[in-house]
Amino acid sequence: MKFEISRRGLLQTGALAAVAGFVPTRFAIGNTAKVKVGLMLPYSGTYAGLGEAIVNGFKQAMAEGGGKLGGREVEYVPLDDESNPGKAPENANKLVSGDKVDFLVGTVHSGVAMGMVKVVGESGTIMVIPNAGANAATGAMCVPNVFRTSFSNWQSTWPMGKVAIDRGMRKVVTITWKYAAGAEMVGSFVESYTKLGGTVIQQIEVPFPNDEFQAYLTQIAAAKPDGVFTFFAGAGALKFVKDYAAAGLNSVQLMGPGFLTDGVLAGQGAAAEGILTTLHYADALDTPANKAFRAGYKAAYNKEADVYAVQGFDAAQVIMKGMAAVKGDASARPDLIAAMEKAEIVSPRGKFTFSKAHNPIQDIYLRQVKGGKEVVLGVAHAALADPAKGCKAV
Ligand code: PHB
Repeated sequence: MKFEISRRGLLQTGALAAVAGFVPTRFAIGNTAKVKVGLMLPYSGTYAGLGEAIVNGFKQAMAEGGGKLGGREVEYVPLDDESNPGKAPENANKLVSGDKVDFLVGTVHSGVAMGMVKVVGESGTIMVIPNAGANAATGAMCVPNVFRTSFSNWQSTWPMGKVAIDRGMRKVVTITWKYAAGAEMVGSFVESYTKLGGTVIQQIEVPFPNDEFQAYLTQIAAAKPDGVFTFFAGAGALKFVKDYAAAGLNSVQLMGPGFLTDGVLAGQGAAAEGILTTLHYADALDTPANKAFRAGYKAAYNKEADVYAVQGFDAAQVIMKGMAAVKGDASARPDLIAAMEKAEIVSPRGKFTFSKAHNPIQDIYLRQVKGGKEVVLGVAHAALADPAKGCKAV
């Protein structure tokens, strides 16, 4: 008995020694596990093409950067959010609490993104928004663990007010989908345009994601404006531009954020001729970073890159920089956030840094479709920062 006890004691001591010798520390155990990246995006519906481009861009940056995050392998957890804000909290919770993702990447639709921000505001999960422009995400709802590599809705259209005035448009009609993105992009344009003396004679709202535009186009023709300002994107933008031309409205200047043509220009064809847009990116930007990015994208996916692919590419870039700084320890959130905040991103759009509320400070280009191509006319507003209205947390 005595012998047995001492023998067991010896065995236990030996086992502990073996454990101490061979099993790595807690961080190192975590370090061998894969980093989980939730990709909560629209994989169906009118924004499906946008979701696909974001994933492609994200994976391109990862592949070009060696395929790992801070030395660790990566596991992707995709989830189709269907651009449905009603399901956003449940879907985000699935990834955050169920799959316990280290990073939540998403999404396209502003309403869905706001639901996601609420969830990570409580969990502390680091979230990177690769498109949705909801002003509140880097405004009133701002939290330290949310970053955006795209734009705020305000930012994308503010410079267009001056463009419209400079081009002699005195009265305009606006038309957009009725949800946060449309309301905020139109709101920002209207604010800058009317401050400079422009008049908005009619504002039309179309239920999302409805793309039956005929009745509205008849109203626009009757109103006889100098210009029409609009936000539609994805499949809806493709159809709106074609219907606008088919309704004989091409003599009335069509303008909006670049989402109106980006990724869908080839499908719109001659109908898109002359459209004026503002955006933080343009295919034709003549920089080494953009050329390399576009060539890499084409080689990998046999498709042309667009603004959504850029935003996905940069989402991966900022996460890679953060994870490199903490050597793969995704649990070191304050250090991770500090490194991400300081990152200077060499983006295909041009270099950018983050504002205090974690939105890109970036140039907004003025573009026009000429001869079937998106031509860069110039910079409509250099280094435009979102005002982060109502943000107190950072
Ligand atoms: C948005 O909902 O914020 C949104 C969607 C599509 C775009 C741009 C913004 O192209």
